[in-house]
Amino acid sequence: MWIWIAVFFASIVLFFVWILWTELFGAGWSPTPVETVKAMLRLGDVKPGDMLYDLGAGDGRIVTIAARDFGARAIGYEIDPIRFIISWLRIVFSGVSGKATVRFKNFYNADLSPATVVTLFLRQHTNENLREKLERELAPGTRVLTYYWTFDKWKPVKVDRRVDIYLYIIGISNS
Ligand SMILES: C[S@@+](CC[C@H](N)C(=O)[O-])C[C@H]1O[C@@H](n2cnc3c(N)ncnc32)[C@H](O)[C@@H]1O
Repeated sequence: MWIWIAVFFASIVLFFVWILWTELFGAGWSPTPVETVKAMLRLGDVKPGDMLYDLGAGDGRIVTIAARDFGARAIGYEIDPIRFIISWLRIVFSGVSGKATVRFKNFYNADLSPATVVTLFLRQHTNENLREKLERELAPGTRVLTYYWTFDKWKPVKVDRRVDIYLYIIGISNS
Protein backbone atom coordinates (compact mmCIF):
# COMPACT_ATOMS: atom_id res chain seq x y z
CA MET A 1 0.00 0.00 0.00
CA TRP A 2 2.65 2.54 1.12
CA ILE A 3 4.77 1.74 -1.89
CA TRP A 4 1.90 2.74 -4.24
CA ILE A 5 1.34 5.99 -2.37
CA ALA A 6 5.08 6.73 -2.68
CA VAL A 7 5.01 5.90 -6.40
CA PHE A 8 1.99 8.15 -6.87
CA PHE A 9 3.62 11.16 -5.17
CA ALA A 10 6.98 10.52 -6.87
CA SER A 11 5.17 10.52 -10.26
CA ILE A 12 3.54 13.86 -9.47
CA VAL A 13 6.88 15.37 -8.44
CA LEU A 14 8.61 13.97 -11.56
CA PHE A 15 5.83 15.34 -13.77
CA PHE A 16 6.30 18.87 -12.39
CA VAL A 17 10.08 18.60 -12.62
CA TRP A 18 9.68 17.61 -16.29
CA ILE A 19 7.30 20.51 -16.93
CA LEU A 20 9.49 23.09 -15.18
CA TRP A 21 13.16 22.15 -15.52
CA THR A 22 13.65 23.82 -18.93
CA GLU A 23 12.83 27.12 -17.16
CA LEU A 24 16.45 26.92 -15.98
CA PHE A 25 17.65 27.03 -19.60
CA GLY A 26 15.37 29.77 -20.86
CA ALA A 27 11.67 28.88 -20.72
CA GLY A 28 9.27 26.14 -19.80
CA TRP A 29 7.05 24.63 -22.46
CA SER A 30 3.90 26.33 -23.61
CA PRO A 31 2.81 26.10 -27.24
CA THR A 32 2.03 29.03 -29.51
CA PRO A 33 -1.55 28.51 -30.84
CA VAL A 34 -1.52 27.32 -34.46
CA GLU A 35 -3.47 30.34 -35.77
CA THR A 36 -0.98 32.61 -33.98
CA VAL A 37 1.94 30.74 -35.59
CA LYS A 38 0.39 31.39 -39.00
CA ALA A 39 -0.22 35.06 -38.19
CA MET A 40 3.39 35.31 -36.99
CA LEU A 41 4.80 33.83 -40.19
CA ARG A 42 2.55 36.07 -42.30
CA LEU A 43 3.69 39.15 -40.35
CA GLY A 44 7.30 38.15 -41.03
CA ASP A 45 6.53 37.55 -44.72
CA VAL A 46 8.10 34.08 -44.48
CA LYS A 47 8.47 32.54 -47.94
CA PRO A 48 10.44 30.01 -50.01
CA GLY A 49 14.12 30.91 -49.80
CA ASP A 50 13.90 31.81 -46.11
CA MET A 51 15.90 29.94 -43.46
CA LEU A 52 13.88 30.04 -40.25
CA TYR A 53 15.36 29.23 -36.81
CA ASP A 54 12.94 28.52 -33.95
CA LEU A 55 14.73 28.93 -30.61
CA GLY A 56 13.04 26.42 -28.32
CA ALA A 57 11.12 24.26 -30.81
CA GLY A 58 8.69 22.73 -28.28
CA ASP A 59 6.54 20.22 -30.20
CA GLY A 60 7.91 21.38 -33.57
CA ARG A 61 4.80 23.22 -34.73
CA ILE A 62 6.57 26.40 -35.93
CA VAL A 63 9.22 24.64 -38.04
CA THR A 64 6.59 22.27 -39.47
CA ILE A 65 4.16 25.05 -40.44
CA ALA A 66 6.99 27.23 -41.82
CA ALA A 67 8.10 24.39 -44.12
CA ARG A 68 4.69 22.95 -45.06
CA ASP A 69 2.58 26.09 -45.46
CA PHE A 70 5.16 28.81 -46.19
CA GLY A 71 7.79 26.87 -48.18
CA ALA A 72 10.71 27.92 -45.95
CA ARG A 73 13.56 25.76 -44.72
CA ALA A 74 13.47 25.59 -40.94
CA ILE A 75 15.59 24.46 -37.99
CA GLY A 76 14.37 24.18 -34.41
CA TYR A 77 16.58 23.90 -31.32
CA GLU A 78 15.15 22.04 -28.34
CA ILE A 79 16.79 21.09 -25.04
CA ASP A 80 14.07 18.80 -23.66
CA PRO A 81 14.66 15.26 -24.99
CA ILE A 82 10.99 14.29 -24.95
CA ARG A 83 9.89 17.42 -26.84
CA PHE A 84 12.82 16.96 -29.21
CA ILE A 85 11.46 13.48 -30.09
CA ILE A 86 7.90 14.84 -30.43
CA SER A 87 9.20 17.57 -32.77
CA TRP A 88 11.11 15.06 -34.82
CA LEU A 89 8.05 12.81 -35.16
CA ARG A 90 5.86 15.77 -36.13
CA ILE A 91 8.33 16.77 -38.84
CA VAL A 92 8.53 13.22 -40.21
CA PHE A 93 4.77 12.54 -40.13
CA SER A 94 4.02 15.95 -41.69
CA GLY A 95 6.21 14.97 -44.65
CA VAL A 96 8.53 17.97 -44.35
CA SER A 97 11.74 16.25 -43.25
CA GLY A 98 13.42 17.47 -46.46
CA LYS A 99 12.89 21.08 -45.40
CA ALA A 100 12.56 21.10 -41.62
CA THR A 101 14.72 19.64 -38.89
CA VAL A 102 15.11 19.81 -35.13
CA ARG A 103 18.35 19.67 -33.16
CA PHE A 104 18.71 18.51 -29.57
CA LYS A 105 20.83 21.44 -28.46
CA ASN A 106 20.92 24.51 -26.23
CA PHE A 107 20.20 27.46 -28.53
CA TYR A 108 22.78 29.60 -26.69
CA ASN A 109 25.42 27.28 -28.23
CA ALA A 110 24.02 27.35 -31.78
CA ASP A 111 25.41 29.42 -34.65
CA LEU A 112 22.44 31.53 -35.74
CA SER A 113 24.18 33.33 -38.60
CA PRO A 114 22.49 31.41 -41.50
CA ALA A 115 19.01 32.50 -40.32
CA THR A 116 16.91 34.95 -42.33
CA VAL A 117 14.04 34.61 -39.82
CA VAL A 118 14.21 33.81 -36.09
CA THR A 119 11.12 32.97 -34.02
CA LEU A 120 10.91 33.05 -30.22
CA PHE A 121 8.34 32.33 -27.55
CA LEU A 122 10.48 32.22 -24.42
CA ARG A 123 10.51 34.65 -21.48
CA GLN A 124 11.26 38.38 -21.19
CA HIS A 125 14.59 37.80 -19.42
CA THR A 126 15.58 35.12 -21.96
CA ASN A 127 14.93 37.51 -24.85
CA GLU A 128 17.15 40.07 -23.09
CA ASN A 129 19.86 37.44 -22.53
CA LEU A 130 19.72 36.53 -26.23
CA ARG A 131 19.72 40.11 -27.55
CA GLU A 132 23.50 40.56 -27.85
CA LYS A 133 23.93 37.14 -29.47
CA LEU A 134 21.25 37.99 -32.03
CA GLU A 135 22.87 41.39 -32.75
CA ARG A 136 26.28 39.75 -33.12
CA GLU A 137 25.31 36.77 -35.29
CA LEU A 138 22.34 37.83 -37.43
CA ALA A 139 22.85 39.65 -40.72
CA PRO A 140 21.19 43.05 -41.29
CA GLY A 141 17.67 42.47 -42.61
CA THR A 142 17.05 39.30 -40.58
CA ARG A 143 13.50 39.28 -39.21
CA VAL A 144 13.05 38.39 -35.54
CA LEU A 145 9.49 37.43 -34.58
CA THR A 146 8.45 37.14 -30.95
CA TYR A 147 5.20 35.98 -29.43
CA TYR A 148 4.03 37.75 -26.26
CA TRP A 149 7.49 38.74 -24.91
CA THR A 150 9.42 41.65 -26.41
CA PHE A 151 12.91 43.14 -26.61
CA ASP A 152 13.07 46.19 -24.33
CA LYS A 153 15.88 47.90 -26.23
CA TRP A 154 14.58 47.25 -29.76
CA LYS A 155 11.84 49.02 -31.63
CA PRO A 156 9.35 46.73 -33.40
CA VAL A 157 8.81 47.39 -37.11
CA LYS A 158 5.34 45.82 -37.06
CA VAL A 159 3.05 44.60 -34.29
CA ASP A 160 -0.05 42.41 -34.56
CA ARG A 161 -1.81 43.32 -31.30
CA ARG A 162 -4.65 40.89 -32.01
CA VAL A 163 -2.31 37.95 -31.38
CA ASP A 164 0.55 39.73 -29.56
CA ILE A 165 3.22 39.26 -32.22
CA TYR A 166 6.19 41.61 -32.66
CA LEU A 167 8.38 41.86 -35.76
CA TYR A 168 11.90 43.26 -35.35
CA ILE A 169 14.41 43.70 -38.17
CA ILE A 170 18.14 43.58 -37.44
CA GLY A 171 19.78 46.83 -38.52
CA ILE A 172 16.51 48.79 -38.17
CA SER A 173 15.05 47.81 -34.79
CA ASN A 174 18.37 47.95 -32.97
CA SER A 175 19.93 51.08 -34.51
C1 LIG B 1 7.37 28.41 -24.52
S1 LIG B 1 7.99 26.98 -25.38
C2 LIG B 1 7.77 27.47 -27.09
C3 LIG B 1 7.70 26.29 -28.03
C4 LIG B 1 7.50 26.63 -29.51
N1 LIG B 1 8.53 27.53 -30.01
C5 LIG B 1 6.15 27.27 -29.72
O1 LIG B 1 6.09 28.50 -29.86
O2 LIG B 1 5.14 26.54 -29.72
C6 LIG B 1 9.76 27.16 -25.12
C7 LIG B 1 10.57 25.92 -25.48
O3 LIG B 1 11.96 26.28 -25.42
C8 LIG B 1 12.69 25.18 -24.90
N2 LIG B 1 13.95 25.74 -24.37
C9 LIG B 1 14.08 26.55 -23.29
N3 LIG B 1 15.37 26.92 -23.14
C10 LIG B 1 16.06 26.34 -24.16
C11 LIG B 1 17.43 26.38 -24.56
N4 LIG B 1 18.34 27.10 -23.86
N5 LIG B 1 17.80 25.71 -25.68
C12 LIG B 1 16.87 24.99 -26.40
N6 LIG B 1 15.56 24.91 -26.06
C13 LIG B 1 15.15 25.59 -24.96
C14 LIG B 1 11.76 24.57 -23.85
O4 LIG B 1 12.09 23.23 -23.58
C15 LIG B 1 10.39 24.75 -24.53
O5 LIG B 1 10.05 23.60 -25.27
